[in-house]
Amino acid sequence: MGIEENSMRNGRGLSDQWADSVVVRPRTTERHITVHKRLVLGFAISILTLIIVTVIAVLLGIRFEECAGESSSRSANGSATKFNQSRDANFNHKDEDIQPWRQLRLPTSLRPRNYDLKMSVYMDNFTFSGEVNIEFECIKSTKFIVLHADRLAVEKAVVYSDNKKPGVIRIHRQFQYPANQVYVIALHRELKPMRTYKVNISFEAQIENELLGFFRSSYVLHGERRYLAVTQFSPTHARKAFPCFDEPIYKAIFKISLRHESAYLSLSNMPVELSVPDEDGWVTNHFFRTPRMSTYYLAWAVCNFTYKETFTDSGVAIRLYARPNAIERGFGDYALNITKKLLQFYEDYFKVKYSLPKLVVFRDRDSSGQMVSQIVILTLAGRAVPDTAVSSY
Ligand SMILES: *[C@@H]1O[C@H](CO)[C@@H](O)[C@H](O)[C@H]1NC(C)=O
Ligand SMILES: *[C@@H]1O[C@H](CO)[C@@H](O)[C@H](O)[C@H]1NC(C)=O
Ligand SMILES: *[C@@H]1O[C@H](CO)[C@@H](O)[C@H](O)[C@H]1NC(C)=O
Ligand SMILES: *[C@@H]1O[C@H](CO)[C@@H](O)[C@H](O)[C@H]1NC(C)=O
Ligand SMILES: *[C@@H]1O[C@H](CO)[C@@H](O)[C@H](O)[C@H]1NC(C)=O
Ligand SMILES: *[C@@H]1O[C@H](CO)[C@@H](O)[C@H](O)[C@H]1NC(C)=O
Repeated sequence: MGIEENSMRNGRGLSDQWADSVVVRPRTTERHITVHKRLVLGFAISILTLIIVTVIAVLLGIRFEECAGESSSRSANGSATKFNQSRDANFNHKDEDIQPWRQLRLPTSLRPRNYDLKMSVYMDNFTFSGEVNIEFECIKSTKFIVLHADRLAVEKAVVYSDNKKPGVIRIHRQFQYPANQVYVIALHRELKPMRTYKVNISFEAQIENELLGFFRSSYVLHGERRYLAVTQFSPTHARKAFPCFDEPIYKAIFKISLRHESAYLSLSNMPVELSVPDEDGWVTNHFFRTPRMSTYYLAWAVCNFTYKETFTDSGVAIRLYARPNAIERGFGDYALNITKKLLQFYEDYFKVKYSLPKLVVFRDRDSSGQMVSQIVILTLAGRAVPDTAVSSY
């Protein structure tokens, strides 16, 4: 009785009978035997139940498979969509492997190393034409060269091997895929890993009146409207100026040449290495090669600005370019002073000398007449140093 009370108190009413039979009455042999018989019976019943449940489960499983089989064969007649859906899913999966341009990111099979970019800038009709020669390394074998190009009219592309057996690689087909702002060159044969190749692409485009890519701006000097063309590539607008691998991870060395009327001057990240005048009043400026860097740090400008110059204590030249009347009136002096202080501060703070030969600050009034300036801080090879970029607006 004590045990019963106990179990009631513990709220184990269900197990009371069991407790009764096993614990309270084990005294006589007769009872002992009865208990054993009951146990065996109970055991047998549970095993039987288990077997029945298993059989039912197996039968149900078979039925289920039959149903599925029926429905897929039924849909093969075209009345249901299940079969089509699964087939489409298979196709899409395959597409991602064989149509890399459909993906938002560039395929990782190629890595650019050097860009040689030659551009002619026509300020009279606001167009530019260019030829880019990209040297790239193959990481994973592929038949496709997928690179960014947006709003560019590609005229011609030539792919050639840069290895022991040089030669032009035949192009199967080439096309724009505007949805992902890429240009695709499909080749007849695969590019092989560990080898370098080159692609030459000629193209042309408009110098848009929009603050993205390679765009134009204007100002009035002596009652006359003057135009300039500058770049804004960050974060993803280099692809509007030339075909390139326009993701920050693809760091490369850039060599830029700008051809324009000699009434204009041109600026870029690096100083001019060679300036070649043409007979017809045009000039080609060849700039020094940049350090290895991402596309969005590139910058150039074709304008008729004048500049004011200062030097940091460590000897880096800082030039501030602005419209001639702004320079004359000293509008740029404050920006120049601040830039000098900032550059010196960063050199001191990071204990890293500014690694490039010059810093260009490029500034103009925005459309509301407000003077705005911007200094770009660049991380080169993991170190934070101010950029030579032509920072605009
Ligand atoms: C299923 O397709 C077969 C031929 O593939 C055709 O003979 C049969 O009539 C179709 N059944 C139905 C229900 O459409
Ligand atoms: C399913 O595929 C068949 C043949 O492949 C096609 O005729 C039918 O239109 C497709 N149905 C759907 C819903 O896509
Ligand atoms: C723009 O002008 C240049 C020469 O000045 C010419 O070669 C080019 O075809 C012109 N572009 C357009 C779109 O008219
Ligand atoms: C590719 O471009 C480079 C530089 O612009 C040039 O030297 C080379 O001849 C071109 N190659 C072909 C095959 O067009
Ligand atoms: C650039 O400025 C110079 C001197 O101020 C002037 O002679 C020349 O015509 C200007 N060029 C253009 C394209 O505005
Ligand atoms: C710029 O700095 C120079 C000397 O460092 C000083 O004479 C001049 O007043 C400063 N100009 C401005 C606008 O701060």
